Amino acid sequence: MTKATLNYGGVETELDVAIGTEGEKGVDMGKFRARTGMVTLDEGYANTGSCKSAITYLDGERGILRYRGYPIEELAARSRFVEVAYLLTYGELPTPKQLDSFSGLLNSSSLIHEDMRHFFLAFPNYAHPMGLLTTMVASLATFYPVPDEMDEEVEGQVIANLVSQVRTIAAFSYKKFIGEPAVYPSHRLRFVENFLNMMFSSPVSNYQQDPDVVKAIDTFLILHADHEQNCSTSTVRMVGSSLANVYAVISSGIAALWGKRHGGANQEVISMLASILDSGDDGRRFIEEAKNKKVRLMGFGHRVYKTFDPRAMILKSLCHKLLSKPGMGNPMFDIALRLEEAALKDEYFLSRNLYPNVDFYSGLILKAAGIPYDMFTVLFAIGRTPGWLANWREMRHSENSRIARPRQIYVGPALRNYIPLDKRSPSQTNVGNARDQSTSGSGRFSSKRLVPMPPSETNTLGEQGSEFA
Ligand SMILES: CC(C)(COP(=O)(O)OP(=O)(O)OC[C@H]1O[C@@H](n2cnc3c(N)ncnc32)[C@H](O)[C@@H]1OP(=O)(O)O)[C@@H](O)C(=O)NCCC(=O)NCCS
Repeated sequence: MTKATLNYGGVETELDVAIGTEGEKGVDMGKFRARTGMVTLDEGYANTGSCKSAITYLDGERGILRYRGYPIEELAARSRFVEVAYLLTYGELPTPKQLDSFSGLLNSSSLIHEDMRHFFLAFPNYAHPMGLLTTMVASLATFYPVPDEMDEEVEGQVIANLVSQVRTIAAFSYKKFIGEPAVYPSHRLRFVENFLNMMFSSPVSNYQQDPDVVKAIDTFLILHADHEQNCSTSTVRMVGSSLANVYAVISSGIAALWGKRHGGANQEVISMLASILDSGDDGRRFIEEAKNKKVRLMGFGHRVYKTFDPRAMILKSLCHKLLSKPGMGNPMFDIALRLEEAALKDEYFLSRNLYPNVDFYSGLILKAAGIPYDMFTVLFAIGRTPGWLANWREMRHSENSRIARPRQIYVGPALRNYIPLDKRSPSQTNVGNARDQSTSGSGRFSSKRLVPMPPSETNTLGEQGSEFA
């Protein structure tokens, strides 16, 4: 069936049904408002297909993730991140010659303009690397202006710049964070080795590469390279739909990823393990508290994957391999293994399908590889950049591409008339009440310190009308 019928108030409207390669169906609402005067309401877009895409296929019920048709398991076992970046962007696995020239382009694009290094000096020492990454990627637009009309070659260069320079900026941000001089990228090193070298080498010591760590990070990047229309990818498509500069587009994706609800879950795993350790617990008490709903086990369960998360299955064996290496011992890891064991045996977790997810293992892998806690989301951003670019490119070349402009259901006040200033009372405006609540927070970055609020009647500046006149 390729038509759906909607009946509202006795009037029937026939709508087209789009059917995907794997049989998934979507009712095409494109002409719905024109025909009925109504819009669809789907807060959080949980039930909205925002585009047709040929990049990633995900089936949470069956635990399937494929890039361009290739199972994630095969890509993780047999390819490298650079190859996957090419596949996502251009739709096919590269031939040896194509891979060679793509790698060459990434290498030749890996430096950032030397003047940009001065920007790093101006940030405070405690600047979060994600803040630096967002800002620096947006500022690439000023150093590498993109023409309005982009041919294939320019587009390829822009893509290579972003995949390669996001990694360089990420490493420079970390060096700024710890107060060490930046280490430049090297043409002699492959993508992941290059990143680790920029992170951990210094003028006084060379970083010793460990092939297990390299493989684990490479796999981490592959597994995070795309995940369909998630929050940051949708942001990239939303911003890109206005034909904004591609560097600003990717910067907006990074900003979305920074949010705790998106890219920060693997950090939560490590902070949970640290707090279990600090409390003197060996994990058993925490498990009981989780079962009694007093706490949540971070890194367990998944909103989309309901049988298993294929990415977690892949990272699990890499994680165990890393943690069992000599010198990797850490009491936090013992707790993690105890939590994992409980989840695989305990009736509470089994009956609710609560198995360790990708963030559980990736948090442990990054920690074991020596990646600092504040860099976890940055590594996610390096991995996701090819996915964002693939979506941006697909949208750019789509015949149906138009500016994204969702509608809303307005629930504010009905029509009312302007009240002159001297006739207003707090009950009419409510602004005073809102102000009292929003400035009551405490903490280092309280809204009181950072957000200028509109004056209330009791505010002297407000009475004079000078600040916001
Ligand atoms: C990811 C998550 C939000 C999925 O939530 P969900 O699919 O809506 O599942 P629900 O919140 O409906 O939970 C279903 C049941 O499992 C329990 N549960 C879910 N996640 C749990 C967790 N991490 N620890 C302990 N119990 C959990 C719930 O209490 C609920 O129990 P009940 O049936 O007795 O009421 C949730 O599992 C979670 O918060 N996980 C921890 C955070 C995390 O790792 N996020 C990263 C995901 S990649």
